[in-house]
Amino acid sequence: MTALQNTLPKKRIAVLISGGGTNLQALIDACEKPDFPAEIVLVISNKKEAFGLERAKKAQIPTKILSHKDYETREHFDRELHETLVKSEVDLVCLAGFLRLLTSHFVEQWHNKLINIHPSLLPAFKGLNVHQRALDAGVRFTGCTVHIVRAEMDAGPIIIQAAVPILQNDTESILAARILKSEHEVYPKALYLMATGDAYVEGDKVLLKNRGALPDSLIHPIL
Ligand code: GAR
Repeated sequence: MTALQNTLPKKRIAVLISGGGTNLQALIDACEKPDFPAEIVLVISNKKEAFGLERAKKAQIPTKILSHKDYETREHFDRELHETLVKSEVDLVCLAGFLRLLTSHFVEQWHNKLINIHPSLLPAFKGLNVHQRALDAGVRFTGCTVHIVRAEMDAGPIIIQAAVPILQNDTESILAARILKSEHEVYPKALYLMATGDAYVEGDKVLLKNRGALPDSLIHPIL
């Protein structure tokens, strides 16, 4: 963190959830660090029973329930969502287990400002039931991806990924838990990169300003 970054205003973040909100918690924890370049100004849930709402309240973050059942169409729901975000002067929107498709109009309105986390190494295993599908495919690695949202489901420029090994005796829930741990590591890092401008979108790709060296490969199994 440079002295200059310390003086820049923090990016205003809204987090959209539908459930438990463990990724929201990881973002709350990161944003509580004084030199983190972003602050969560609003948490929105489309489900009133989402436990993530309790996490937000505990952290004294304003919450809003926007139940899709109260809106006649997807377009009406998304219009209200957009207006709510604009009213709170949000810079970036993080989807964190927000299990509802957004209209392409909404995605365009938040072009390059809408971020999602998905529990696979995209573009592999888009959609639902990802862990079982990874187990069934017999891949050695799966993982998680934080990406910029485009209109197509689980697609868009990739900010960060974590490769997570699949072990011989994994069940769906064991694997899901291992991946979730990585999600909590990468989502704050992705937000940091976007909020500082260290990661920026150029066309279909996210480019990075000088990062550290990486190993040439990750190998599994180890011999
Ligand atoms: C996370 O595993 C996230 O990657 C997934 O929902 C879970 C939410 O958990 N999202 C998707 O599958 C989106 N396609 P959380 O509520 O504990 O953060």
